[in-house]
Amino acid sequence: MRSSTAPLTPVEVLELSVRGEPVGAASVAALVRAWLDGVATDAQMGAWCAAACAQGLGAGATEALTKALVASGDRLELATLGPTGDTHSTGGVGDSTTLAAAPIAAALGVRIAKASGRGLGHTGGTVDRLEAIPGYQVDLPLDRFVRQVRDVGIAVIGAGARLAPADARLHVLRDETGTVRSAGLIAASIMSKKIAGGAGAIALDVKVGDGAFFASVEEARGAATAMAALARPWGRRVVWTISSMEQPLGRRVGNALEVREAGEVLRGEGPPDLRELAVRVAADVAEATGVIAPGEGEARAAAAVSDGTALAVAERWVEAQEGDPAVWSDDGALPAAPERRVVGAPGGGWVSRLAARRVGETARWLGAGRLHRHQTVDPVAGLELLAKVGDRVEPGDPLAVVHARDPALAGRGAELFLHAVELADAPPEPIPLIIDRGGDDA
Ligand code: URA
Repeated sequence: MRSSTAPLTPVEVLELSVRGEPVGAASVAALVRAWLDGVATDAQMGAWCAAACAQGLGAGATEALTKALVASGDRLELATLGPTGDTHSTGGVGDSTTLAAAPIAAALGVRIAKASGRGLGHTGGTVDRLEAIPGYQVDLPLDRFVRQVRDVGIAVIGAGARLAPADARLHVLRDETGTVRSAGLIAASIMSKKIAGGAGAIALDVKVGDGAFFASVEEARGAATAMAALARPWGRRVVWTISSMEQPLGRRVGNALEVREAGEVLRGEGPPDLRELAVRVAADVAEATGVIAPGEGEARAAAAVSDGTALAVAERWVEAQEGDPAVWSDDGALPAAPERRVVGAPGGGWVSRLAARRVGETARWLGAGRLHRHQTVDPVAGLELLAKVGDRVEPGDPLAVVHARDPALAGRGAELFLHAVELADAPPEPIPLIIDRGGDDA
């Protein structure tokens, strides 16, 4: 008979996980190890992720996965740099929040040390957005990353190469097997990068709604508390904002387009929802590190935008990572799509729904994300949203502009986009953006 503490073989873990039966933490750790050592295959790991999506992943298994992902690479400790912070979104559409929130927080005195990932499913990723900036280096050696955090006050890199590299592999697998939507897998993926990245305070933007990976506020809150619990033993403080992803955030979806929109926010312009959330997340991380007193973060973050200090920090940050700092202010500094197609309203009325998931899938199909691992992301692909929920349109009024590499893609993108839109005879109820906040006490 098997000893109760002996780790199960990968196939035994799969058989139990598919049936939703618990496997011990040691068996999860052994499965991940076997996969990284080439003893378990990508197909087996993909099957395990599918089981996690269908049956859930318990707290012990989530913690074991997190530790295994952290142990797959280096782990930084940044306490000697002073108050360090990091931000992360659980994934949304048009979600360039981090690109604006991170330099705003740095302008308030937080040393931002951010380890990011690529897009998952229909949602965008910070690394893909940053790669739309000409010259920007996402893959810095860790000693240079730490020096930049110290000297410039902000560095944002792709976690993949050195920090939790197994998570980057798992990203690819989950992305192409449609196994992103599991609270446990998401928590382990995010927190492994945050723990390895070394920042002392972490502000999470936990999305809920049609285009998010969490369908209900309860689910989002559960994931947020689980992520805080994962970070606590490592001495990290986690705070979170739960925000709506019923419709895309802002008015641009796609990598270069979102960099442009984050630049507008940094210049005190841009769509009000993106501005509000970027200021909120910056305030969260500034208050969590203690550089700003509780309750004062929002006003201070807004002031850092209006007095230009956040924009100046963003320029120094991008320059330090060899990117063109003009991207925040000069549209011509970013790559642009050769083909643009205006999508007209099929009828008149109020826009009552702009389904974030369908918009994200349209952008992914245009090339802003990937459908499988062999695709490369097209930085110029995406959509500009000219009407959002609550706007009134007449038949033929422009609803969106599709940005595409060629006319065929643009035409198909326009067709797909229309599936996201619903028009009604009466104005819809407004969708609240910020739904809840919480986190570890100081
Ligand atoms: N962001 C991540 O880094 N991982 C996930 O699984 C989801 C969002």
